[in-house]
Amino acid sequence: MADASSIMQVSPVIPVVTIDDPADAVPVASALAEGGVPVIELTLRTASALESLARIAAALPDMLVGAGTVLAPRQAEAAVEAGARFLVSPGVTPNLLDYMLSTGVPVLPGVATVGEVMGVLERGLTAMKFFPAGPAGGPEYLAAIAAPIPYVKFCPTGGVSLATAPDYLALPNVACVGGSWLTPKAAIEAKDWGRITELARGAAELARA
Ligand code: 3PG
Repeated sequence: MADASSIMQVSPVIPVVTIDDPADAVPVASALAEGGVPVIELTLRTASALESLARIAAALPDMLVGAGTVLAPRQAEAAVEAGARFLVSPGVTPNLLDYMLSTGVPVLPGVATVGEVMGVLERGLTAMKFFPAGPAGGPEYLAAIAAPIPYVKFCPTGGVSLATAPDYLALPNVACVGGSWLTPKAAIEAKDWGRITELARGAAELARA
């Protein structure tokens, strides 16, 4: 089963990274790895995202690079062809989940309600992205889900920061969190790789339950 539980063990934070210029892809990934974060959810939100993904996959075999913002079946296939080692979606439909699972790589589908959690569970997956974590109810919401469904592990993402991550990571049903704060747009534009390494270091040091 292409469950993403092992992906969630790699780092307390999965950085959600958006890159405009593929020339920045390898330096950003190297900066994260240098800071102790060897995993990336690279969002498919820019025209050149697949090229960035392919460059990271080719240059940094130890970096666990996955594709995020997978919204359409063809994106799942193209991302895996480009080298994605896991797939993340902000939400899920039965059709999209079928396609993502058919690629054979681990899948982290997004959920925001108990019904959606149950729908994904029916497909045999117990690892899910909780999105958008802050607006959907935050740590209190996840703590409440653990009462009836304690065996699902979440990666809350969306509005999570270095300051709020500990509130999520303290929960037994949270394996890691996701967030874009490790790779600020301004730092990428300024090619301030040292800043990214520093932010990764702070994230890598976060404690998990
Ligand atoms: C995502 O796709 O997971 C979110 O855009 C990340 O949310 P954040 O920018 O609030 O961390």
